[in-house]
Amino acid sequence: MTALFTPYDLRSLTMPNRIWMAPMCQYSAEVFGPGAGVAHDWHFTHYAARATGGAGLILVEATAVSPEGRISPADLGLWNDTQAAALRRIASFLKERGTVPGIQLGHAGRKAATDRPWRGGKPVGPDEAWQLVAPSAVPFAQGHPVPDELTVEQIQRIVRQFAEAAQRALAAGFQVVEVHGAHGYLIHEFLSPLSNRRTDAYGGSFENRARFALEVVEAVRAVWPEELPVFYRTSATDWVTENPEDERDSWTADDTVRLARELRVRGVDLMDVSTGGITSGIRIPTGPGYQVPFARRVREEAGLPTGAVGLVTEPQQAEKILASGDADAVLLGRELLRDPYWPHHAAAALGAAKRLPDQYGWAV
Ligand code: FNR
Repeated sequence: MTALFTPYDLRSLTMPNRIWMAPMCQYSAEVFGPGAGVAHDWHFTHYAARATGGAGLILVEATAVSPEGRISPADLGLWNDTQAAALRRIASFLKERGTVPGIQLGHAGRKAATDRPWRGGKPVGPDEAWQLVAPSAVPFAQGHPVPDELTVEQIQRIVRQFAEAAQRALAAGFQVVEVHGAHGYLIHEFLSPLSNRRTDAYGGSFENRARFALEVVEAVRAVWPEELPVFYRTSATDWVTENPEDERDSWTADDTVRLARELRVRGVDLMDVSTGGITSGIRIPTGPGYQVPFARRVREEAGLPTGAVGLVTEPQQAEKILASGDADAVLLGRELLRDPYWPHHAAAALGAAKRLPDQYGWAV
């Protein structure tokens, strides 16, 4: 039995394998009118293909809890019921294929309102832009707009929007919800001293910077059923302390372990461990599995199950990550864009049984 194809239980769910699809924005929804933020044929085909390809769990892309929270104007949203209805079709097909349907909920904060990456990813022009919000009035980078500093009342409203979006995700049939706490978006902006300069209850000490993340998680956990898991995606480090010449105060791997303990007692079931994204110009030593050691630390030191993500591309590599206890599952991003059938190919490479649909399985 391979580790990769050993089913994995969380609460009442059983993931059929440990090859999961990482959330990946498609930046493909309509921007204006009733179709704004609504999934359509592109999204359905994209996710259906990866379910047919054998992924054990699919995390649908970062889906905005409010219009202001979109990374690009073409992001999916879950701030209305039309958006939920369109996602229902995707969740239901995934379930039918035996793939657990999950969805990532996010708010982009000061990194909102950027263009689709294939058009350069820069802040959008005035025809599509909106006023950004963030913990502090500090822009992401040069050339990016200065966000408004959120009031406490506005912060509380966003906490409620996360819970409302989670309720819609549940109504749409999703069985896993992932809170997007990574990549320099709003939750990470509160956590990191590089973006949080507040002097009230939401800034300064670790407890204060973590307050928003924990409030969001508590609000989501409160509406998400006991029997279903909640995930949290983290940026485990800002990569500042790993660059000895950079002495700025930042978010570190030690902070992540501490946060993971807090999340665990609040009912988070798994940490999806990524890194980086808080500001531009920080050197990140990427390479195969470069974020895996952070997943291991969280798993070992906080006792929280983890998903490892980032340049996991080879079946043997993925198998080793699980067999050596670095993580409980692997999340694949770009490799599943290249090859939706990666899980079937990995099964063949490792000598495990394929989970092909009947329509194909009898024939090939
Ligand atoms: C991403 N990534 C990402 N991360 C996230 O938390 N939410 C998201 O919506 C997205 N969107 C997204 C779109 C695209 C096209 C890519 C390539 C990436 C990051 C992704 O989930 C993953 O962490 C990285 O791609 C690293 O894993 P791979 O690609 O090396 O397997």
